Amino acid sequence: MAAIGTEKVLSIHHWNDTLFSFTTTRDPALRFENGHFVMMGLQVDGRPLLRAYSIASANYEENLEFFSIKVENGPLTSRLQHIKVGDDVLVSRKPTGTLILHDLKPGRHLYMLATGTGLAPFLSLVKDPETYERFEKVVLVHGVRQVDDFAYHDHLSQDLPKHEILGEEVSKKLIYYPTATREPFRNNGRLTELFESGKLTRDIGLPDLNPETDRAMLCGSPAMLKDTAALLDSRGFQISPHIGSPGDYVIERAFVEK
Ligand code: A2P
Repeated sequence: MAAIGTEKVLSIHHWNDTLFSFTTTRDPALRFENGHFVMMGLQVDGRPLLRAYSIASANYEENLEFFSIKVENGPLTSRLQHIKVGDDVLVSRKPTGTLILHDLKPGRHLYMLATGTGLAPFLSLVKDPETYERFEKVVLVHGVRQVDDFAYHDHLSQDLPKHEILGEEVSKKLIYYPTATREPFRNNGRLTELFESGKLTRDIGLPDLNPETDRAMLCGSPAMLKDTAALLDSRGFQISPHIGSPGDYVIERAFVEK
């Protein structure tokens, strides 16, 4: 099997000037764990131009979904943002990554902490039944600059709780907490500050962060990862040292600047 496959674009949704999502066909032989990423991109001047993209769809779904930034001068996304239904995109056959449930020790509360397009792997994980089997509460925090950057807001707050199979578990366990930093919204401030002050946990009615009971998965910019990991470390959380070795939390870079 070739290392890179070709898939057809099936649908595209532009959230705003800087964010869009699209779905593609999926090679039935492509197996992945929820939270994994693949290399994805376009054929440019006869060569594959690929970047790491988290898979936003769940591993039992028929199609693949991706959530991307649009960068005006980005080698890939300046082109990718113009794709149309029926176009070809390239998808590598080797999904991998660290944001996987198996690398978390057992716990009661799972915190999924995302900024920007770092939301993507969690879109897959919130559709994984195992997420709800393993945790009593699943808290998805999405930090963005502006209110129109809350891609998937209605999906997470309205559609998923009504999902045919997962709806009941989602309604009982999933707490979606969007927070904006540069525009008034019902939640404001960086997620790091909201944990430091204790506001976030108070708002959702959970105890302060505690490595005995809580687990976390992080996906965002390098600065967000650094600050959030430092916060968790200061509370006594231990990072999973490598794939296959469980810890209190796992991290993945949200692959921006494309
Ligand atoms: P802010 O507006 O205060 O920079 P970006 O688009 O730059 O990746 O930012 C997405 C979101 O992540 C913004 O709300 C931004 O807040 C926030 N953010 C940026 N850096 C950090 C950080 N070091 N820790 C937590 N949140 C951050």
